[in-house]
Amino acid sequence: MSQRDSGYERKERDLYETPAWVTHALFPHLPWQPEVIWEPAAGSGKMARAIIDASPKVVTVIESDIETGGDFLSEFLVQEGVEAIITNPPYALAQEFIKSALDRMEGHGIIAMLLRTDFDHAKTRADLFAEHPAFAKKVVLTKRIKWFEDSKGSPSFNHAWFIWDHQHQGAPTLAYGP
Ligand SMILES: C[S@@+](CC[C@H](N)C(=O)[O-])C[C@H]1O[C@@H](n2cnc3c(N)ncnc32)[C@H](O)[C@@H]1O
Repeated sequence: MSQRDSGYERKERDLYETPAWVTHALFPHLPWQPEVIWEPAAGSGKMARAIIDASPKVVTVIESDIETGGDFLSEFLVQEGVEAIITNPPYALAQEFIKSALDRMEGHGIIAMLLRTDFDHAKTRADLFAEHPAFAKKVVLTKRIKWFEDSKGSPSFNHAWFIWDHQHQGAPTLAYGP
């Protein structure tokens, strides 16, 4: 079933705003608390604001979005001093976003992506999950995300946070959030 089938019209460029509780649920699971975070698909900035609320350690959240000229998949978009990349990527480009984030943070830093909970199932994505040495943790959200307050239907999809940490060693772990 697609999101459209359940009464959710797909928005242009996947402009779904993540409810604050979803972002807050990530922070207890980060391996360490970063001070400089890049939200590279920031949209209206809802997730960026929730990041600031969620962590007293965060000093700066850098926001960018293709709508304001920041194409995260372009090699020319560069940010210095970033310790973590956290976002809810556009669904159709999620794989490219993960690869771009892993390349940009190679050797250091945390990446956290909000994805559909079975995004790691595909064999074709094993290089990003099961076989990736930095893949550290999956945090399953046990509550479904309601993307629009005024939507009539119930949400159809389950989501999880996927966390990579370039300092991680060993197998990834599994946790459950709200
Ligand atoms: C699912 S929304 C997420 C918005 C925000 N992260 C949140 O959770 O509230 C996806 C966002 O990705 C942006 N986007 C789409 N393609 C992009 C690209 N190549 N580079 C940067 N942003 C992109 C869209 O404009 C949209 O704002």
